[in-house]
Amino acid sequence: MTASKIIIAIDGHSSCGKSTVAKQVAKKLGYIFIDTGAMYRSVTLYALRNGLAADGKVDEQGLIQRLSEIEIEFRFNLEKQLNETYLNGENVEEEIRQLPVSNHVSPVATIKEVREAMVKLQQDMGRNKGIVMDGRDIGTVVFPEAELKIFMTARPEVRAQRRYDELTEKGLDVDFNEILKNVQERDKIDSSRAVSPLRQADDALLLDNSDITREEQLDWVLGKVKELVA
Ligand code: DC
Repeated sequence: MTASKIIIAIDGHSSCGKSTVAKQVAKKLGYIFIDTGAMYRSVTLYALRNGLAADGKVDEQGLIQRLSEIEIEFRFNLEKQLNETYLNGENVEEEIRQLPVSNHVSPVATIKEVREAMVKLQQDMGRNKGIVMDGRDIGTVVFPEAELKIFMTARPEVRAQRRYDELTEKGLDVDFNEILKNVQERDKIDSSRAVSPLRQADDALLLDNSDITREEQLDWVLGKVKELVA
């Protein structure tokens, strides 16, 4: 048993439902949910809008020079009962989920200076515990001392199908094969980059949700929290 409020770190591959389960767990426990992917996505949107990224390429030095101009915060939307991402005061929650950002976010997330700035922000946000944070390096770099670490994954085809459904439900005209390619490319970059590569922390619990329901996975995580929290 441990303290009453803990840090829950959820890492894993892209599009395997980390945010979904993290949100559900945060709601059940009255914890704060932080989607760190949204932070890297916001930096990417800034780069796209300011001519620092295009055609899959990123002007690293240009972006590093302007990092201090980028302010990212989460504001709680009372009506929707969830956190939304703000870039320099503007709600960018929708725009950061679209393909132009998805197609440029991996190279942005490999920039050491970008990661250092984001990690610092994330550590500040978790200072008082009682948070569920999802990302790629939360259990390994941001909060290596987190009480509960979960590493999530699912088969690439399953993940691509979920993202396809999500985007088409929003009325977007997208191609399944393009999404699958995007998922596979991001896996490769996330796992092979020099700075903070995606890897399962030694003390993280593995959760493969390819063949289980959202309810089953939520119960599984809540069960693990119960074992830890007094
Ligand atoms: O979880 P997501 O798909 O929204 O993440 C977007 C990108 O940001 C993804 O390519 C990996 C990167 N990322 C990261 O490098 N570190 C994190 N803590 C979170 C996301």
